[in-house]
Amino acid sequence: MAVAGCGSREERWSLADATALVTGGSKGIGYAIVEELAGFGARVHTCSRNAAELEECRRRWEQKNLRVTVSVCDVSVRAEREKLMETVRQTFDSKLDILVNNAGQFSFKPAAECTADDFSNLMTTNLEASFHLSQLAHPLLMHASISGGGSIINMSSIGGSIAFAGSTIYAITKGALNQLTRNLATEWATDMIRVNGIAAGFVTTDMIKDVDPEYMKEEHSKTPLGRTGKPVEIASAVSFLCMPAASFITGQVICIDGGRTISA
Ligand SMILES: NC(=O)c1ccc[n+]([C@@H]2O[C@H](COP(=O)([O-])OP(=O)(O)OC[C@H]3O[C@@H](n4cnc5c(N)ncnc54)[C@H](OP(=O)(O)O)[C@@H]3O)[C@@H](O)[C@H]2O)c1
Repeated sequence: MAVAGCGSREERWSLADATALVTGGSKGIGYAIVEELAGFGARVHTCSRNAAELEECRRRWEQKNLRVTVSVCDVSVRAEREKLMETVRQTFDSKLDILVNNAGQFSFKPAAECTADDFSNLMTTNLEASFHLSQLAHPLLMHASISGGGSIINMSSIGGSIAFAGSTIYAITKGALNQLTRNLATEWATDMIRVNGIAAGFVTTDMIKDVDPEYMKEEHSKTPLGRTGKPVEIASAVSFLCMPAASFITGQVICIDGGRTISA
């Protein structure tokens, strides 16, 4: 695995023949990430819990000549994560260039009303799964052939660093994910694995479809760009961070939020 920096511009801004695992690729941000990485030439494997939806996505990607394979996995279940990584190992001949820990869930509930199940479900899905999948991917990422090293991207949220009432457990998972990003970046730099996070602001997906329109209006008024983001606007940043062009970037959590977190 070569250190980047000397390649041509085409090589620095390419993912040709890279291999990637994106969790939660059947919808929303994950779907856009799969399309963007595959569009840049990567072979991508993705998962979700719904077999029929995944197969429909796979067909659509095939029609667009994108190289995407799929398998069902509930990332909150340890044994299913192990099975997923074994599938990835076989699919990509023991080499992985990119892991995107994207699958996640949100819950909007006052902290005083949250149950033990609410807590463990979000912790397992949003945090433990990202940690364990990173562990499982580590030996494969060490064989990454992409210039600049293998990459892990953790899909975080601005809710991991600023407080929105009613989303305490979600916020804890994302805050911890940000620290996971920094710790793994430090530990695995010598293995030539870069680890970065994206802290997204509100992005138009199913996850926020039930948010009160008045609340969203208020959010827009606090956001310099005055709107929610689109999944592809997150996906383009993910692609950049995985490219050789980003070979000196590690341990960062980049806010992509229309300026929401810098606004007074
Ligand atoms: N949308 C936003 O405003 C926003 C803002 C900040 C951060 N984010 C983060 O971005 C990521 C993607 O969110 P999104 O808005 O794209 O959500 P989404 O539209 O609800 O899509 C979530 C994806 O993850 C999959 N998924 C959920 N739970 C899973 C599980 N246990 N195992 C496997 N797959 C699972 C879903 O498929 P199945 O349900 O069929 O399994 C789906 O493919 C999440 O980590 C979220 O926290 C989103």
